[in-house]
Amino acid sequence: MSKGIFITATGTDVGKTYVTALLVKKLRESGICAGYYKAALSGAEYCNGRLVPGDAQYVCRMAGIEEEPEQLVSYFYETAVSPHLAAVIHKQPIEKEVILQDFRKVKERYDYITVEGSGGIICPLRMDEKKLMLEDVIKMLYLDVLIVAPAGLGTINSTILTVEYARQKGIEVKGIILNGYEPDNVMHKDNKNQIEVLSAVPVIACVENNAEEINIALECLLDVYGEVS
Ligand SMILES: Nc1ncnc2c1ncn2[C@@H]1O[C@H](COP(=O)(O)OP(=O)(O)O)[C@@H](O)[C@H]1O
Ligand SMILES: [Mg+2]
Repeated sequence: MSKGIFITATGTDVGKTYVTALLVKKLRESGICAGYYKAALSGAEYCNGRLVPGDAQYVCRMAGIEEEPEQLVSYFYETAVSPHLAAVIHKQPIEKEVILQDFRKVKERYDYITVEGSGGIICPLRMDEKKLMLEDVIKMLYLDVLIVAPAGLGTINSTILTVEYARQKGIEVKGIILNGYEPDNVMHKDNKNQIEVLSAVPVIACVENNAEEINIALECLLDVYGEVS
């Protein structure tokens, strides 16, 4: 039976893909059959005449996954807007059945699956009569979440808001990862403490700029992954 975790963030461009690559790399270097999945990506770029889901390509390259990145992302759109709008622009609506089916296939190939979200925790995937929000995907895949948050100014507000929204939707937050962390920065150290006190969620790792490894014990990391049925 496969295990999974969902990586969300306090916003877009915060470092979900960067941190996900470090997590998957750590698992794979420990001999674990670890994979990646993303339901919807916008801002994909053409490479040699082919539209490529960049996040999956980056994770595959950094973590040594030998699979076509297209196999690991259900929907990828060229226009860099919220997935619900990109889906309308490209006339390719997001169907939850497709996500379920694709995730099932990924589960057949990998034991530990790190699922990357789109944007932050509030992200519409479809806003017509078949409304679909990111939290619906998290729940239908039976995943708990990790939140990637910046280490610097403003992070207490955005991190606690993200934790509270997830909780309100019945989603369990297993941990927080601070990105761009400077170990000697007084504010970064205090942000870590205040976030833990205010959210009652542990900061399980702090990632420095240009880090090539993630500093977390393998047992602690494995603990974060839950059964995905
Ligand atoms: N710790 C880090 N060190 C150096 N660059 C980083 C780090 N975290 C993120 N980045 C860079 O910041 C940009 C946004 O990060 P990314 O992981 O793509 O964000 P997200 O997936 O949340 O949109 C990328 O260019 C990425 O390489
Ligand atoms: Mg990303």
